[in-house]
Parts: sequence; C-alpha cells; structure tokens
Amino acid sequence: MANVIIVGAQWGDEGKGKVVDIYTEYSQEVVRFQGGNNAGHTLVIGDQKTVLHLIPSGILHEGKRCIIGNGVVLDPKVFLEEIDGLRKKGYLKDDSQLMVDGSVNLIMPYHKKIDIAREQKAGAKKIGTTGRGIGPTYEDKVGRRGIRFADLLKPETFKRKLHEVLPEKNFYLEQYLGEQPLSEAAIIEEYLGYAERLRGYLGRASTTLERAVKAGHNILFEGAQGSLLDVDHGTYPFVTSSSTIAGGACTGAGIGPHLIDAVIGISKAYVTRVGEGPFPTELEDEMGEQLRTAGSEFGATTGRPRRCGWLDIVALREAVRTNGLTGIALTKMDVLSELEAVKVCTAYRYRDELLEEFPQDFDVLKECTPVYEEIEGWQKDISALETYDELPQQVQGYVDKIESWSGCPVVLVSVGPRRDQTLIRSNPFEIKS
Ligand code: GDP
Ligand code: IMO
Ligand code: MG
Repeated sequence: MANVIIVGAQWGDEGKGKVVDIYTEYSQEVVRFQGGNNAGHTLVIGDQKTVLHLIPSGILHEGKRCIIGNGVVLDPKVFLEEIDGLRKKGYLKDDSQLMVDGSVNLIMPYHKKIDIAREQKAGAKKIGTTGRGIGPTYEDKVGRRGIRFADLLKPETFKRKLHEVLPEKNFYLEQYLGEQPLSEAAIIEEYLGYAERLRGYLGRASTTLERAVKAGHNILFEGAQGSLLDVDHGTYPFVTSSSTIAGGACTGAGIGPHLIDAVIGISKAYVTRVGEGPFPTELEDEMGEQLRTAGSEFGATTGRPRRCGWLDIVALREAVRTNGLTGIALTKMDVLSELEAVKVCTAYRYRDELLEEFPQDFDVLKECTPVYEEIEGWQKDISALETYDELPQQVQGYVDKIESWSGCPVVLVSVGPRRDQTLIRSNPFEIKS
C-alpha cells in the first residue's frame, strides 16, 4: 500500500492532470485537496482531450473514487457543468464515483465579482488572477464567514448565512469597488436551484479516507496550482490563496502526515507562468515565443498565453524542500527537441552575490538574474519512444543533471500529452508492499 501526493513544482500547468490520470491506475481514491476552478488539468486519451477544473483527474477511470476534499473551494455551477460535460463524453456513469466534503467552502457570486473588480481597480498592480473568485472565497473561509457545501443542502441555513453576509459584500462592492450590488433573492434562487442535484455527492473526505486506508487502498492526492503559487512559500503576493504544497494535502483532506509515502513534484523541462509576478528565467524574446508555440502554452482555464522560460533549478530546489519531494516527474521534454542547445539556470546573480537558494525577499528576487549552464540539444523527435533507455544520450544527460542539481530522482519523463507518451522509470506506488 502506498499513498502518493502529486504537486506542481513550478507555477502551475506542469502536467499534473496527465500524471494523475496515469497514476490513478494504481490507486482506488483520488483526492483534490485545495484550490478550485482556477485549475485547468488536461487529460489526453487517444485523440480526445478533457480539461478538468474541479473534479479530480482520476475520473476517466471507471470504478475509481474521486473526492473533493474540505480544502477545496467549489463553484456549484462549474461543478455541475463539469459533471454534465463528462457524462456527455461517456464518463462518470456511476454517480457514487464522486464525493464532495461537506466542509468545502462555496464560491459565491460576490466572490467572483469582487475578484474581477479588484483586479480591474488594481490596474498595473493586479495579481493576474483567474477571476474565478478563489481569493475572496478563501478570505471568507479564514474570516469565518464562509458558506459551506453542507449549508447549501439545508435551505434555511443557507438563507440565514447569506442574509448575514451579503450586506457587507454589497457595501464593499458598491462603496469601494463601484459595482452594482447583488440581489439576495436572485442568489437564493440560483443556488438553491443547484442544491437538489448536489445532495447525492455529500460526504466526508477524512472518514472516507480512513476507511480506504483500513481496506488497504492506495490513495492519490492531486494538487492544483504549483509550489511557487503557495500562499506561504510562493512568490507572495503573486500567489494563489491556498496551501498548494504537499502539507496542504493533510489539512485539505483530513488525514495525518504519517499516511503519506511519496510526494511527486511535476516539473516541465522548462518553466511557464500565467499571471503577474517575478519569473527570473523568463524569456521575453523569440526563444520564449518558440517555447510557447512548441509547447502550446496557452492557459487551460483562461486561454491566456503563458510566459515561458528556461528550467530554473533554484526554484526547483525550493519545491523539493517545501514539499519533501521524493520524486520528480519531468514533463514536456519533447517540446525542447528542436533546439540546438537547452539552457538551465543553476544559480541567481544578485548584485555581486551568487545565490543558490530561492530568495524569500521579494525585492531581492525581482533583481535576480539567472546563471545558466548550457546543455547540448538532441534535435530528434522523442515523442514516439516507448522506454527511457531509448532517449538520446543528451536527454538522459539532462535528466541526470537535473537529478544531481535538485537532489531528487526523476521518476518519469513525459514526451507528449497522451497517456501512452510517458516513460516511467520507477513507480511511487511500489515503494511499500
Ligand atoms: P496541469 O494544470 O498541471 O494539469 O497542466 P495543464 O493541463 O494546465 O497544462 C499542461 C499542458 O501540457 C496540457 O495541454 C497537456 O496536455 C500538455 N502536456 C502534458 N505533458 C506533456 C508532454 O510531455 N508533452 C507535451 N507536448 N504536452 C504535454
Ligand atoms: P493549475 O492547477 C497556473 C495563478 C493565476 C494568478 C495566481 C492567482 O492548472 O496548475 P487565483 O485565481 O488563484 O487567485 O490566481 O495564480 N493560477 C494558476 N496558474 N495554473 C493554475 O492552476 C493556476 N491557478 C491559479 O494565473 O497568477
Ligand atoms: Mg493547468
């Protein structure tokens, strides 16, 4: 038995969805533990592409239980649309495959409106959020004003909580953000309209997982966003509003840390970022454009072009430490195949200092410039290879260097978006018998 956490080791969009889909084969439960529909996780099976925002990426496997843990924030409209989309494609035939923890905080219409209006008001100082209401929802959760999934299933409780909170939201919307206030009756009508369809999904992640552990199941935890977007350890304030690192899986699902056997960080063979904030290895030139085109680097949630740059080992080491990574899954290696040379940042230069550790001070980070090592390119199509050993020596050399610089083994190399374009070196579920 092994329980495995998957996290993004960069600024999101590393290919977590693809790896979760692959690892679901070895697990019985797949659990999302933080974030909301700011996430966009892409799965490609054969020629069919599915993008999931809320529902765990194990859902395409029949008979696997997908759990939305208490740490997630949920927009009921998006959740129901996602269910309908999956059903249309022939997935999720059995509703008991899906469960939502009653403590999940709901994304309300005022959260979305505040998120968007604040960003507009901030102008050049904006965060570049996805506009899905994520930050405002987590603020209310921590501020003890949140409305939870279970509340929605008790109409009187829902109405009472909304009645208590809405005047403050409308005051803020009108007086500070210059927006129109929201109608209480309209929110009640919309949200209670969702309630009946949602009722059947109510459950409790913590007790369900306890039973799963007792039954000897393997559990897979699916992180959203990435380590550098973590609210504590990321490039604050240009972060998301949840604990994206592995520790978040324990609080976001209600399990103890001793139950975790492996933590796999997903990293691209280069780096991307959407939204604002520091990005030391960003390439704002033709090379960046080439990576964006070759890697189809456009957001799965907002469609925004992703900022692209070379792999950053300083940042990767940060992810290895904050998550306690036991393995790295290296994705999108095929995207680098055309290049004559590939660069990797192994340290930062800050004024006359050489930094090997990711600086905590935002002002320092902003001024850091990357120190690069150059790796010889391979200029061969690697997307149809079936085993790791068939990879060109240059690729294997690149992987060896990433392992030695980061201090963490590379357990998988992905050479294309499809399930079958994956070269597995070791399986984290096989570490315990
Ligand atoms: P996530 O948010 O971490 O799940 O990642 P996204 O789905 O937002 O972005 C990753 C994108 O890269 C998706 O379009 C995937 O289909 C694609 N992808 C994943 N792995 C590979 C790979 O090894 N090669 C290529 N070319 N594309 C990949
Ligand atoms: P997945 O799970 C990449 C970024 C936004 C913005 C910041 C805050 O697909 O990897 P938010 O809406 O969360 O308040 O935005 O975080 N962001 C992501 N970037 N991938 C994601 O998810 C992201 N989710 C949020 O672009 O910079
Ligand atoms: Mg994504």
